[in-house]
Order: sequence, then C-alpha cells, then structure tokens
Amino acid sequence: MKQEQSISGVTTSNAFMGNQCAAPAGFSAEQSQIRQVESNARSITLSWQDNQKSEFHYIWLRHNCFCSQCGNSADGIRALTILDIDPDIRPARVSLDDTGNLLITWPDGHRSEYGPVWLRLHSYSKQQRQHRLSFTPTLWKADITDNFPSHDYRHIHEDESAHLAMLETLRDYGIVKLDNVGSEPAETERLASLLGPIHETTVYGRIFEVQVEAVSKLGSKTAIHQDTHHDDAFCYNHPGVVVFHCLQNIDGEGGESTYCDGFAIAESLRNEAPEAFELLTRIPVQHIRRHPGEIDFRIHAPLIRLDWNGNVSGVRYFDRAMAPLDLPAELIEPMYAAVREYHRRMVSDEFKAVIKIPAGTAVFIDNNRSMHGRNAFVPTSPRRIRTCHVPRDEFHGRLRDLGARLGRDDFDLILPQGPARPDAPCRGQ
Ligand SMILES: [Fe+2]
Ligand SMILES: [Zn+2]
Repeated sequence: MKQEQSISGVTTSNAFMGNQCAAPAGFSAEQSQIRQVESNARSITLSWQDNQKSEFHYIWLRHNCFCSQCGNSADGIRALTILDIDPDIRPARVSLDDTGNLLITWPDGHRSEYGPVWLRLHSYSKQQRQHRLSFTPTLWKADITDNFPSHDYRHIHEDESAHLAMLETLRDYGIVKLDNVGSEPAETERLASLLGPIHETTVYGRIFEVQVEAVSKLGSKTAIHQDTHHDDAFCYNHPGVVVFHCLQNIDGEGGESTYCDGFAIAESLRNEAPEAFELLTRIPVQHIRRHPGEIDFRIHAPLIRLDWNGNVSGVRYFDRAMAPLDLPAELIEPMYAAVREYHRRMVSDEFKAVIKIPAGTAVFIDNNRSMHGRNAFVPTSPRRIRTCHVPRDEFHGRLRDLGARLGRDDFDLILPQGPARPDAPCRGQ
C-alpha cells in the first residue's frame, strides 16, 4: 500500500493499490514471477516461471494503468478515458525492476508500474480465461431431498467461514436450507442480511406474509396447490434470491414445499429436445402481472438465457403468469410445444423435489435458477411463512468479497448473470 491520495487531491476510501494485489491462497512463486518480456508490434508477451505465457496489448496496459494520476476502475474515481489513448500507442521503454514489477514508460513520459500478481490474475490468456469460466453448477433432481444442501444457522453471523460456506452452497446448488433459525418473525430480516439488503417490490412489499386471506390478490394468499415457478418472472429484473422463513408448518399432510432446478431442466432439454431448447433460448414468451389502478408489469423474454459461451445463465418461467403469446403465427404451435417440454419436466417425479420444511427453518432460493412451489393445504391450518427478496448482485458481491478475504482461489469465477432481459441477445455469439 503506497498512499491513500488519488487523482486531483481526492482522498478515496479504497486504499490506493495501483496495479498491485496480494497473491491468493495456493498461488505459487512460479506463477507470480515474470521470466522474460518480449516486445511485439502491438503487445508484449510475458513468460512466467511456470512456463505459461500471457500477451498484453499496449492499449490494454495503458488503459489499465491504475496509478494515482490515472485513477482506478474499482472505485470509479478515474481520470483516464479511452479517448486519451492513441489506438496505436507503443511504450518508449519496457523493463522489469528488482522486485519483478513490469515498468513501462509511455511516449508522453507517463510511467506505469504493474505488479506480477496483478498481471497474472488479470491475464486474458486462454488458460487464465478458462479458469475464470470454469464455474460449473451442481445440477440436481428430485432425489436432492435425500441429502438436501443444508447449513446450521447458529453462529453463522459471527463465523465468516461458515457464512462463506453457506453462500458457496447457494452458488453451486441454487438453493440452501438453514436449520435452527427459530420462529421469531424479527429473524427474517436478520436472515436476509446474510445475503444483502432487502429488495422491495410492489407485489410483495418488503417482507411478505404467506398466509391465507379471504380476498386473494395473489396465489400465495390462498391455500391452493402451486406448481413451481420463479417469483415475479414478469419483471425486467426479477427478484434475485427468495428468502423463505418458515415460522409454523402443518403436522401431517399438506403444505409441503416443492423445488426444481431450472438449470437441470434446461440441460435436459439441450440433450433430449434440442429443437425446444433452441426456441426457448431464442424466441420470447410473455409474462404479465396486472392489478388495475396499481401495476401493469409485462415482459417479452426468452425462457432460457445463454451467455456468450453457450452456458445457461438464467431461466424465467411462471406458467400461471404467462400472458397470451404475441408471436408470428408460424411460431405459436412450435412455442407451445417447446414450453410443454419444459413444463412436463418441471412437474415430473424426476425433477420435482418435495420436502416438508419444519418450523424454525429457512430456505434461500436463487430465483434465477431454482423454482419453488407448494402442495395444497387446509386454509384454516396454522402454516405461516415470511418471505422477502435480496438482489443476486448483493449475494454474488458478498460471495466474492468473503472468498477473496478468506483465500479462495475461485473467488473471481464468472457466475451465471441472470435471465434474459427483453432486449438481450438471445444466443451466444
Ligand atoms: Fe413464489
Ligand atoms: Zn497512470
């Protein structure tokens, strides 16, 4: 850490680090030592002690100078813009200093210093990019109930490694159960704070009581059966993580929770029903929620979103809120056939997990991936659930920050970024 002051005399809350960072756990000395620097026409190639190579373009190096004059993208206090850089920029001088830093002097005399660990972590070599793209979700089916991913809630607020382990389970499975939360209504808010601030919505408000009401505006205010769904799938940015806090449940039959893994269904379609998969990743379906005088939410977006590498990055489906299809006539029947393929799996014994959540237990559900529903129950039963939502950015942000601080070597993996926006590109290119 060199200094706290930044550009134009501004003092930033981020400690000024320049292009330096600490080596993560498991990082070998060979990985963080530059053996040789080779200058090319538009880039340099670094050879590392472990025989890997990384190419860095001059424009990339100049743009990512995070010195105290240029500023830093991590806090957005930054003076340098892309227009300040000659697209054909070439260094006047390139060298390594005694401690292994890469030093570059630019034609205007500006000097940049890049630490080897920072360079290695930001390398866009094929091998380094493959590492960042290596996140693989743990797909699951109905038999997840035999060994439901669970963590003990007690002490989790005081124990960062227990907290991180729970977030990692939610990342990998898209669902996690927390035991021993207790049935105090006030605990719902504290529970949600493990993920981040609560996201208030018009439909649910801030914290929502899932209890039967005489005049029902929502399915959840009834006792009827509900197929699994994604909450608020009709919103452009639909809720991130569903926080489900069970205060009281029913002894005996009824009120069981049902879950399924939208990513597992998507992968099953990719393998077994490729035509349906292709349509569901490319053609929008419509979802709606309308309470006249209050709200009118509508979305046209594909049911399955792929990222630019072709991996599933989000699923949205809420059959009860599916609006009349608004598509070219020749796509109506093929789209019904494709949605049927998804829905058939969603309600099947193969994919649908059924589990009774005991009182005093909570479940976090990644609403971008895992679907939730419940079996019918007697309307006069004492079943009482409190729910709220937390944005996925907050959950992933906390996961990365804790992961980096506790020395995880996978804290910077690129995670599934969510379901399709209405105007998102539909296919990987
Ligand atoms: Fe729901
Ligand atoms: Zn600079």
